[in-house]
Amino acid sequence: MIRISPSVLASDFSRLGEEAARMASCGAELLHLDVMDGMFVPNITFGPPVIKAIRKCSPALFDVHLMIEDPIRYIGDFASAGADSITFHAEAADDPRAVLGAIRAAGCKTAVSLKPATPAETVFPLLDLADMVLVMTVEPGFGGQSFMHDMLEKIRALRHECTKRGFDTDIQVDGGIAEDTIALAAAYGANVFVAGSAVFRSEDAAKTIASLRQIAEENYGKAL
Ligand code: DX5
Ligand code: ZN
Repeated sequence: MIRISPSVLASDFSRLGEEAARMASCGAELLHLDVMDGMFVPNITFGPPVIKAIRKCSPALFDVHLMIEDPIRYIGDFASAGADSITFHAEAADDPRAVLGAIRAAGCKTAVSLKPATPAETVFPLLDLADMVLVMTVEPGFGGQSFMHDMLEKIRALRHECTKRGFDTDIQVDGGIAEDTIALAAAYGANVFVAGSAVFRSEDAAKTIASLRQIAEENYGKAL
């Protein structure tokens, strides 16, 4: 199923609750929340108290993207704050299977992410426990960067591996997603799309979300 996840990193942080509500009313099923610790990535954003505060503003599923070192320490806190799915980085965890187990035990959907330099094969041993794999299509840390086209083969390799093993895993892409790049990512097998700048900087967010979804639906799997 194709889903669009607007990233609040590109929103007006002084009105975060209203922005979260607006995205749901514009048709987004997910809300992407980028948590950065200044260690795993060179930027700092927000943590569980902020997510808890905006939880009541939106009926969307909260898609929490942890860009933090040693993520297992905070899984319980993000689940209690209202996360529906929790994504951590394979590079940030000593025992990724334990982190996936902790996320599932906390009642959330499980997801593991790969930085651009990390090969697809890194998560192959984790696919039995992961509801979603996030392929970063920019270096994590900042919004507004350009989509890395050389990530397309990684998306395809992951989709092929999931299909081969009978897993209906969501493959999410994050970074530089707009009307041109979403067509490519979908063609290579991605089905969940994070979009920050493309949605929040557009004049009509509802129209942009609908258009992104339509382009993804039209192109899904064409390059598989
Ligand atoms: C980057 C974040 C992204 C970011 C995407 O580290 O993980 O979610 O908000 O922003 P855009 O869509 O502007 O590239
Ligand atoms: Zn993100």
